[in-house]
Amino acid sequence: MTSYLEEYPLSRLRRNRQSKWIRNLVSENKLTTDDLIWPIFLCEGENIKNEIQSMPGVYRYSIDRLSEVIDIASDNKINLIALFPNTPDELKNENGSESLNEKNLVCRALDKIKNQDLSFGVMCDVALDPYTSHGHDGLLNNKYEILNDETNQVLVQQSLLLAKHKADIIAPSDMMDGRIGLIREALENNDYKNMLLLSYAAKYASNFYGPFRDAVGSHKSLKSDKKSYQMNFSNSNEALREAALDISEGADLIMVKPGISYLDIISKIKNEFKFPTFAYQVSGEYSMIKAAGEKGWIDEDAVIIEQLTSFKRAGADAILTYFAPYIAKTLNSSK
Ligand code: PBG
Repeated sequence: MTSYLEEYPLSRLRRNRQSKWIRNLVSENKLTTDDLIWPIFLCEGENIKNEIQSMPGVYRYSIDRLSEVIDIASDNKINLIALFPNTPDELKNENGSESLNEKNLVCRALDKIKNQDLSFGVMCDVALDPYTSHGHDGLLNNKYEILNDETNQVLVQQSLLLAKHKADIIAPSDMMDGRIGLIREALENNDYKNMLLLSYAAKYASNFYGPFRDAVGSHKSLKSDKKSYQMNFSNSNEALREAALDISEGADLIMVKPGISYLDIISKIKNEFKFPTFAYQVSGEYSMIKAAGEKGWIDEDAVIIEQLTSFKRAGADAILTYFAPYIAKTLNSSK
């Protein structure tokens, strides 16, 4: 804090709040469409745009319907979309081998959209949970333990496959130790020197992921929690260690996830490292706002703007949010 003392009545903080124009002038943070990243769910089939039951207003698209996504993202000036596959159950197995299939949903979606002149980037998660029959992000041994280093080998292969299919950002969301360094090294050695790596550095074992697991179909199979790899929500020093490691291993961007309950983590990481830091307003956060909005208990639009602006205030540079297309439209029309 500055050394001068503010004292009433010389200081009356309400002076700067008395009308809209002065509030606008002293406003410290502003949400714009530049801050938005839009997560997209993919599914098999033709001509499908299915609403996800637990996420009203969010859809799974079959690949042939992605042109609609491209139009919405371009028209609304969204800079980045993130692809998440709903892998059919019959293609899932213990090892998540579908993650390495050149013809899996994500690779086919990339092939379809990346041969066009896009005005936005395409990000893909690296993790095994959309592909494993047990729903975990990594490989298991017969005691149901997640194997770190063995999983990393698969994540490296998955990353190279996504790079080959022209993903713009590769985003490991698995929380294995050491994967950023190994992926970065493999990318360097395979001539993908400019590949952007967005590390989900501080990803918590959260209770807010339920609707997402419904959307990608991993909830049915998940037999145990993810607490041995995702972070304990009681901790924040550990988040700084996670971020420090990932930055030193070659991440370009850092993600904190979930969002609104973790604003302190965003703020700490931003202040400590001054590094590009993104936040993920996750599915449960989305669905809670939608549900209360539908009941008329909150003003949905106002709450969305307030929450997304609070991410900015905490220090986030951009926000993954299922509200992206909806709120981009609102922001663009209020200009
Ligand atoms: C896991 C992953 C999760 C989400 C995205 N990727 C969470 C999980 O199942 O552990 C959740 C996103 C959301 O809830 O919106 N790789």
